[in-house]
Amino acid sequence: MGSLSALMVCLLCLLGLGAAATTSLKSCILSAVDNDSTLAAFQGDLLYQTLAVKVYNLNYPITPAAVTFPTSSAQVSQVVQCASQLGYKVQAKSGGHSYANYGLGGTNGAIVVDLQNMKSFSYDATTQRATVGAGMLNGELDTYLQAASNRAVAHGTSPQIGIGGHATIGGLGPTARQWGMELDHVLEAEVVLANGSIVRTSDTLMPDLFFAIKGAGASFGVVTEFVLRTEAAPTEAVQYTYTFNLLGSAAARAELFSEWQRFITQEDLTRKLASIITVLSGSVVISGTYFGSQAEYEALGLAQRFPGADGNSSAIVFTDWLGLAAHWAEQSILDLTGEIPAHFYSRCLAFQQDTQISETGVQQLFEYLDSADTGAVIWFVIFDLEGGAINDVAQDATGFAHRDTLFWMQSYAVTLGQVSQTTYDFLDGVNEVIRNNTPGLGDGVYPGYVDPRLEDPRRSYWGSNLERLGRIKTAVDPGDVFHNPQGVLPA
Ligand SMILES: Cc1cc2nc3c(=O)[nH]c(=O)nc-3n(C[C@H](O)[C@H](O)[C@H](O)COP(=O)(O)OP(=O)(O)OC[C@H]3O[C@@H](n4cnc5c(N)ncnc54)[C@H](O)[C@@H]3O)c2cc1C
Ligand SMILES: *[C@@H]1O[C@H](CO)[C@@H](O)[C@H](O)[C@H]1NC(C)=O
Ligand SMILES: *[C@@H]1O[C@H](CO)[C@@H](O)[C@H](O)[C@H]1NC(C)=O
Ligand SMILES: *[C@@H]1O[C@H](CO)[C@@H](O)[C@H](O)[C@H]1NC(C)=O
Repeated sequence: MGSLSALMVCLLCLLGLGAAATTSLKSCILSAVDNDSTLAAFQGDLLYQTLAVKVYNLNYPITPAAVTFPTSSAQVSQVVQCASQLGYKVQAKSGGHSYANYGLGGTNGAIVVDLQNMKSFSYDATTQRATVGAGMLNGELDTYLQAASNRAVAHGTSPQIGIGGHATIGGLGPTARQWGMELDHVLEAEVVLANGSIVRTSDTLMPDLFFAIKGAGASFGVVTEFVLRTEAAPTEAVQYTYTFNLLGSAAARAELFSEWQRFITQEDLTRKLASIITVLSGSVVISGTYFGSQAEYEALGLAQRFPGADGNSSAIVFTDWLGLAAHWAEQSILDLTGEIPAHFYSRCLAFQQDTQISETGVQQLFEYLDSADTGAVIWFVIFDLEGGAINDVAQDATGFAHRDTLFWMQSYAVTLGQVSQTTYDFLDGVNEVIRNNTPGLGDGVYPGYVDPRLEDPRRSYWGSNLERLGRIKTAVDPGDVFHNPQGVLPA
């Protein structure tokens, strides 16, 4: 009896401690946001998941302890200090497009710093630099830059992606072969660190931190503001789409793919050309943008090189940048579910100039795609040419390590309800067929295509930069306050 009542007391004391911790979290966070109750929501609040959490990939349901919506760096600092003092993990959220909801912590019980109230913008015409709040979405940024002085930066084709998660991870997109990734535009950043200090970082100010922020930001702090170099927005571009309905002919599809692979691996291919091949269940689509005149585009001879496209194909000339960006958004297959959350899973491979898929491998891939059980409502496999200016930057100059990747593969399956083992097996099989037929293929994965099932995620995301990142983590966040399930750990 005695030990049982001791146990009861202990359980009660634990419950009591739990309640006290919740109370102190609430009061600390509320005070951090200047007691404005509209700037914080807590687990257990009415409609918490729908109004505050907003899970993106339904396959990874997550319940954070609190979601905060600070309006200033000072408030972000106060929130981070509450977390550090009370033993909670913190993650920043910008556009909320992480494939595994890492902006929500990636695991239950974190404190989210949602930056949606931090979208300041200013432009300095002398330096041609823009200063941008870290909650800005790329579509919004395009509009501000255009209005400021017809300027632009590189980023992906989805306007809903946040600069916070894009410019701290990479930011691949159609202009990146000319300008580098969005990350490569970053000249300076303001960051809130684990101890709450608000610092500025650049190549000369805390350069180790700057290295880390440019590729592994989520593990090092909350970036509250970016200073970006900008480019003159393109004034002329051709958006091309060639659709091939090669139903029933795996061999014809394989030949088309091999021809595309030969085309994009030419050593002297112009950086003005962006190109993607998308493999779907009933068709193959070759699409992209040429940043130049229609005459120059026609001289590339794509239509002759890839004959047999159907009547849905087009080559549209754009003379306004925002119009082109809007077209990308409309065409973006990754946005097919729009802003409606879905269950999905995605895998990624990184190819270099000298690691191309063999002809046999391509044939086997298309035979596999024709015959495999997918378990998915929609699936597709995208191969995306990048390289160019991205690879002008040294491998060890930024936390982002994939400076030798020429093109990326991204497989993607959307399911009704939880992703089943059949669908995991299907996408694993795609990787396996390719891996078995691509000598020298490495384990690199783009850190923006988060894959919770990776065997060695940190090595895949950060490659040879992982050791240095670990040492910097030890220096600025030894307690791993900025944590997600695949983040950089203290060395
Ligand atoms: C529909 C769709 C299309 C995509 N297309 C492309 C594409 O064309 N090119 C491409 O490169 N990628 C693309 N991606 C991947 C995308 O770039 C990454 O998922 C990116 O990390 C999303 O950023 P976010 O701010 O929207 O997401 P969030 O979920 O808010 O953040 C993503 C990660 O960044 C961290 N983070 C966010 N803000 C900050 C900050 N201020 N400081 C520190 N860390 C921060 C979060 O903690 C989280 O780990 C696409 C994703 C989707 C869903
Ligand atoms: C918030 O309210 C609490 C309790 O009333 C008070 O102690 C605290 O000083 C307030 N904080 C701020 C920043 O106003
Ligand atoms: C356009 O694509 C659809 C769907 O793939 C196809 O059925 C149709 O025949 C195509 N139209 C033309 C004109 O080729
Ligand atoms: C906070 O951490 C940074 C990075 O380690 C350090 O430079 C700074 O001195 C710390 N600030 C305080 C107040 O401890």
